[in-house]
Amino acid sequence: MVNLQEVNATNFNECISLKRENCRFVGNAESVLAEAYLYRDDSLAYAIRSNETIVGLVIVRVFPTETHPYSFTNLFIADDFQKRGYGKLAVEAIIDKFRRERRSNVVQIQVHHSNEFARKIYTQCGFIERKKSQWDNHFLVMELVL
Ligand SMILES: CC(C)(COP(=O)(O)OP(=O)(O)OC[C@H]1O[C@@H](n2cnc3c(N)ncnc32)[C@H](O)[C@@H]1OP(=O)(O)O)[C@@H](O)C(=O)NCCC(=O)NCCS
Repeated sequence: MVNLQEVNATNFNECISLKRENCRFVGNAESVLAEAYLYRDDSLAYAIRSNETIVGLVIVRVFPTETHPYSFTNLFIADDFQKRGYGKLAVEAIIDKFRRERRSNVVQIQVHHSNEFARKIYTQCGFIERKKSQWDNHFLVMELVL
C-alpha cells in the first residue's frame, strides 16, 4: 500500500536523501524538486510513501486545462526500493487521486520508447500508447481515460 504526500518542509530532507545512482530517464531528487518548483503554477511534487517510509517522488499536474489534461512526470522509485511493486502502486495511487478529483477525464503522459519497465507498468495500469511525441519523437504519448 502506498500513498502520496505533498512535498513540504517536514518531509523535504527525507525526499532529497532518496538515492539514485543511475539518473537515466529521470534526474535525481534535487532536480525533480527543482522542476516541480519551476512548474508550480499547475504542478506539485509528491512523495511516494509506504507506511512511514518515503520510497520515491513524482510531479503531478494537479490543475489540468482543456488543452493540458491530467499528467504526471519524473516518477522514480529510489534505488533501495525498486522492484518491490512500489512503482505500479504509485501509478495506481495517482490514478485514484485523479478519479476522486475529476478535474479532467483524461491522463496523458510521455515515456521514452526505450523505458520498457515504465511502459510495462503504465500498460498494466490501463494506459494506451497513442502516438509519438511531437516534442521529441523518442517519446511516446500514453493516455488513460478516467
Ligand atoms: C520505472 C520504475 C518507476 C519502476 O518502479 P519499481 O517499483 O521498480 O517497479 P515495480 O516493482 O512496481 O514493477 C512493476 C513491473 O515491472 C517489472 N520491473 C520493473 N523494474 C524492473 C527491472 N529493473 N527489471 C525487471 N523487471 C522490472 C516488475 O517485474 C513488475 O512486473 P510484474 O508486475 O509483471 O511483476 C523504476 O524502475 C524507476 O524509478 N526507474 C527510473 C526512473 C524512470 O524511468 N521513471 C519512469 C519515467 S516515465
